[in-house]
Amino acid sequence: MQHDFDEAYWEQHWQAHPARGPGSMRTNPPNPYLAREVEDLRPGTALDAGCGAGAEARWLAEHGWQVTAADISAEALAGAAERAAASGADRVEWIQADLGVWEPEARFDLVTTHYAHPAMPQLEFYDRIAGWVAPGGTLLIVGHLHGHDGHGQDGHGHGHDHEHGPPAEASVTAAAVAGRLEATDWEVVTAEEAQRGLPAPGGREVTLYDVVVRATRRR
Ligand SMILES: C[S@@+](CC[C@H](N)C(=O)[O-])C[C@H]1O[C@@H](n2cnc3c(N)ncnc32)[C@H](O)[C@@H]1O
Repeated sequence: MQHDFDEAYWEQHWQAHPARGPGSMRTNPPNPYLAREVEDLRPGTALDAGCGAGAEARWLAEHGWQVTAADISAEALAGAAERAAASGADRVEWIQADLGVWEPEARFDLVTTHYAHPAMPQLEFYDRIAGWVAPGGTLLIVGHLHGHDGHGQDGHGHGHDHEHGPPAEASVTAAAVAGRLEATDWEVVTAEEAQRGLPAPGGREVTLYDVVVRATRRR
């Protein structure tokens, strides 16, 4: 199915999404690649771009980061802020923004995104958020792997209907993402394609096919 991944689409998505239960995006645990890639970094300022239900933003706050968590969906942010308040994660500023046009006031020590796919072309979105990393800072992109968009991910709860995985235009390869990062400006630390299981509604487990790219900005 074709979608415009605009504010109306995401708002409707979050309003329709179940509040809890296995596979609910609202209660999924933090993305495991975040802890793996970030836990050895010295905490500073962080942007979670397309934070959704906020699990990654909360994890960052709980690990000492001063977090800006941005999403286009007011519905997603309301739930995320509520859960953060309940868990005492108070180092998060939740902002509603279309990251296709938003500009930060300052650059961040860490910019991360997990499966955000806006209306703009995916790789151009990654270019855009990469520009918000401060010198010496880190970019961490976790995205959907291209070529696994039809089967195997159905029901994974990352914003797609249950018969189809993420659409082709929202998926990438590790080489394509890393290839956007000029060697003069970036040291690519991680560029991998991986798969993992995630609990899904009905007691099932689905397989997520992911791209994980971490890079450090040289200047
Ligand atoms: C598939 S969900 C992933 C949410 C969360 N990061 C996670 O891993 O569970 C994609 C998120 O990106 C947000 N998003 C999409 N387009 C956006 C845009 N232009 N600006 C900000 N957020 C956007 C959506 O509202 C949604 O919460």
